[in-house]
Amino acid sequence: MATSGALPPPPDFEAWSEKDFAPIVAFLRNVIGITLESHRMGLMQARLRSRLQARNLTSFTQFHDQVLRADPTGWGTQVLIDLSTVNHTAFFREPAHFTFMAEKVAAWLKEGPGLPVRIWSAGCSSGQEPYSMAMVLAETLPPQQLPRVEIWASDLSLEMLKVAAGAIYTSRDVQGISQQRLKRFFLLGRGPREGSFRVVPEIRDMVKFRHVDLRNSVWPVPTDLPMIFCRNVSIYFAEDERLALIERLAQHLRPGGWLVMGNGEIIPGVTPTIRKHSPSLYQKEA
Ligand SMILES: C[S@@+](CC[C@H](N)C(=O)[O-])C[C@H]1O[C@@H](n2cnc3c(N)ncnc32)[C@H](O)[C@@H]1O
Repeated sequence: MATSGALPPPPDFEAWSEKDFAPIVAFLRNVIGITLESHRMGLMQARLRSRLQARNLTSFTQFHDQVLRADPTGWGTQVLIDLSTVNHTAFFREPAHFTFMAEKVAAWLKEGPGLPVRIWSAGCSSGQEPYSMAMVLAETLPPQQLPRVEIWASDLSLEMLKVAAGAIYTSRDVQGISQQRLKRFFLLGRGPREGSFRVVPEIRDMVKFRHVDLRNSVWPVPTDLPMIFCRNVSIYFAEDERLALIERLAQHLRPGGWLVMGNGEIIPGVTPTIRKHSPSLYQKEA
């Protein structure tokens, strides 16, 4: 990183301080659209500082001026996204949603013989959600019908997508999964991978991963979908953006299609095209 020619810092400048961090907070809010909550500020500063020092940067200001401003879509922005999103997820999280999904998919497969049934896990984090969908479908559908199901999965974080596509999990990640499922859907790591669990190819092949920013205008995923899971993602959106997100997701649903959100998510108001069925289930008007 070239520093020659840079203006000298102002007299009250202190590298890695709260004040030095302020332009990053503004960049996150104004350019990326993420509002950093105050209780996450300290952890974010510490994690970003160690990433930047590893690249020989000496202050947040230098990062802001020479990296973010120079290329607002480059590596700096991706690092900020990876550090500022909370990626917590789990296999079979909120299990009733998977039962609901499997029942619907079984019915849709009967509707149009030969036609594919596509579902989308939007904000899939490290992949547990779409792989859980695939596992439940593999358990409940006749094997000859499985090739007709396509699971699309996307996230904003490239780091998370890399983990998702690799499909290798720790013993902690698979805690709580029944022995029967572990045996059927995971391969045990050997040698240097001892202790890890990899999702079997049969399940991996059912999922297509894409990089999608739900704030971005282009979503490279199919439309006319019968079901979208977008669980625990709207928490990253400001209150007034959440309705717009739901409306856009509804545009990717076919009439009568379902949007599944996280159980704890609060959506203010109503939208013209989608109606609330239960706290986490929304259905597009038929
Ligand atoms: C808490 S995780 C939820 C994972 C999974 N859906 C679940 O419920 O277990 C939220 C995910 O949303 C992703 N995310 C946040 N903002 C996003 C955006 N604008 N577009 C796409 N994904 C986003 C984060 O990267 C993170 O992986």
